Amino acid sequence: TDTPIVILNFKTYMESTGKNALNLAKALEKVSTETGINMIAAPQHMDIYQIAHNVDIPVLAQHIDPLNPGGHTGSILLECAQNSGASGSLINHSEKRINLADIDYLIRRTSEKEMINVVCTNNVQTSSAVASLNPDFIAVEPPELIGSGIPVSQAEPEVVEGTVEQVKRINPQVKVLCGAGISTGDDMKAALELGSEGVLLASGIIMAKNPEKALLDLVSKI
Ligand code: G3P
Repeated sequence: TDTPIVILNFKTYMESTGKNALNLAKALEKVSTETGINMIAAPQHMDIYQIAHNVDIPVLAQHIDPLNPGGHTGSILLECAQNSGASGSLINHSEKRINLADIDYLIRRTSEKEMINVVCTNNVQTSSAVASLNPDFIAVEPPELIGSGIPVSQAEPEVVEGTVEQVKRINPQVKVLCGAGISTGDDMKAALELGSEGVLLASGIIMAKNPEKALLDLVSKI
């Protein structure tokens, strides 16, 4: 759709773990219903099941290991994430990087299973490289701005614009998101004006006193 997308990466904050994760997902569901903006939750793996079975919004895993079923103790299997209720996964987040061959493998495997893949990248060059692998989404996030509260749309607009330009040139079907430091309605508006189709964000909403209010503010200027 052409409606902007908001993906909330729950990471591993206490404020987005367990019962708090469920409440946060309910806030996403509520604001999504009220505003018509697509809101997606990316909770920790062990919270996927409870959220997917209690909240009516898409749920993504934060990571999947590039492995086939078998003997891999402690790993995250794509099939398990899907059975738990995940409709897709983030891939290659800056806090959980994997190599190019594994990114390719996971894009193929998620596509085979009709799961959504959102590949995170750190700059225009890696975004260009990933574009040719045919992901559903590329989410560009300059690592130094992640968790900083300084919005990428203000601090490094050229990274967002450059990514949109290159990705669309290489593979026009790929949707581009941006993230890092995004928290307000102005940040989101600027992100869309730079050509992105939505945002991937975390701390600005998770650490807000009132996450529901923060989400409403986030989409208030679109
Ligand atoms: O995945 C989103 C993330 O890395 C951005 O984090 O806390 O700057 O919104 P934050």
